Amino acid sequence: MAFSAKLNTGNIISASYPALVIPAYEDNGLPRELKDLDKAWKGALTNALKSEVLTKEGEVQIVSNPTGKGIQRVAFAGMGHHDETDLDTVRRAAGSAANALRKRDVGRIVFLAEPFMPLRGELDDTARALVEGARLGSYSFDRFKSEKDTHVLTGAELHLPRDTNTRELMPILDETMTLTSSTILARDWSNTPANFATPTHLARLARDIAKEASLAVKILEEKECEKLGMGAFLGVAKASTEPAKFIILDYKPRKYQRTLCLVGKAITFDSGGISIKPALDMHMMKSDMGGGIAVLAAMRAVGMLKPENVRIVGIVPSCENMPGGDALKPGDIVRTQSGKSIEVINTDAEGRLILADGLEYARNEFQPTALVDTATLTGAMVIALGEGVAGYFTEDEDLAVAIAKSSVTTGEKVWRMPLVTEYKEHLKSDCADTKNTGKKEGGAITAALFLQNFVGDTPWMHVDIAGPFWSKESNPYIPKGATGYGPRLLYYFIREWMKI
Ligand code: BES
Ligand code: MN
Ligand code: ZN
Repeated sequence: MAFSAKLNTGNIISASYPALVIPAYEDNGLPRELKDLDKAWKGALTNALKSEVLTKEGEVQIVSNPTGKGIQRVAFAGMGHHDETDLDTVRRAAGSAANALRKRDVGRIVFLAEPFMPLRGELDDTARALVEGARLGSYSFDRFKSEKDTHVLTGAELHLPRDTNTRELMPILDETMTLTSSTILARDWSNTPANFATPTHLARLARDIAKEASLAVKILEEKECEKLGMGAFLGVAKASTEPAKFIILDYKPRKYQRTLCLVGKAITFDSGGISIKPALDMHMMKSDMGGGIAVLAAMRAVGMLKPENVRIVGIVPSCENMPGGDALKPGDIVRTQSGKSIEVINTDAEGRLILADGLEYARNEFQPTALVDTATLTGAMVIALGEGVAGYFTEDEDLAVAIAKSSVTTGEKVWRMPLVTEYKEHLKSDCADTKNTGKKEGGAITAALFLQNFVGDTPWMHVDIAGPFWSKESNPYIPKGATGYGPRLLYYFIREWMKI
């Protein structure tokens, strides 16, 4: 879908926007930029502002121009109390306004950006949040519906004070456009069912991304994975009739000091295998590629925005986890590339198996400065932190600081989890180097400890996104379904990590 972001300056009175969106704080009156407009509209705006609902968080009120000339309507987007707002309030208000307006067939909306400025004194952050809120909020997934969503938002613009240095803001806008389209890409692919999003489709997507974002791409077929000894990955893939693909995207600037490998789990459908899942909510496992698609979409942004001095490699093992006559059976033992043996106690703990081979491959092939993996890995993570927050595990303070900072920028919530050494006991096997599951209690932690077996002494972080990859409710800028959690978080994480 075509979408554009723009910056406008000039006098509001002479503008002819279809809709001007005003962020309305409970404790602010009519912004002074609107005094003249209000006069021309015979006080219609001041009158409207007297109603309390206008400024309530999440409320949107639309006032039509009584004169018929110039700006056609003003939409007040409630921001709540000034002291309690943050960038997420801005995103939500922008999303609510965008949705209210597009449902009335207003496709192009303009935000009056100045009243936001007291928020942080930084126009960058607010500009980014407004465009993110509007664009991500007006997302809908209608690929398989006969009746398409015709209420399309085609553009979000900012109206800025005349003396604003718009040239400084342009790169922020470009970056935001790239990152929101990567988020939408992630949502689309996670929402797409497993019969339309197979490992083969993902491999094709990776090739397209490589072309679009000037990245090197390599797809390892099952035969090559076999030669490399990826027994854990191929074990999971075995019973599926869909061929597995091991996807690598490489961003390699001419000069670089550090290499970061991002490894993402892309199970295009997780039935559980022989340890089959119950039917309830099994359909959600079409999105068990949330980590993998987050890595691919983040790599797209990396290739387009070109960070300096750092090589970034995205590694995405992709397959289906199915039952079948030749499926992995509980008790089977598989070996990773390095020869480590794993007793598969539960075939539904498949993500960690494919990540084990992904992590080892990353280390052997690229000798990374740091390793980060992300995955919809455990239900236990959702129990621990709920559906809104991802858990990250690391012993490296630089990685921890970088992800926490990125999270503040993007509004994608994270919380640090402990790698409890004592729980390693739970993974001891009687007949192999390790088991693939421990106890139910602390299941997200044992999953992380399992992965730690395969990272050697490379600084490493694991991010379990099993909670926030999917939303059961609609939020102002995150509609129901796949949330597209991850690409923005990973991108700003890289930016923060580079600064350290
Ligand atoms: N993909 C699931 C984890 C998951 C569950 C993600 C719910 C999102 C929502 C993963 O492969 C899995 O099945 N994990 C098992 C591990 C268990 C068998 C140790 C789980 O969490 O139940
Ligand atoms: Mn599973
Ligand atoms: Zn899974």
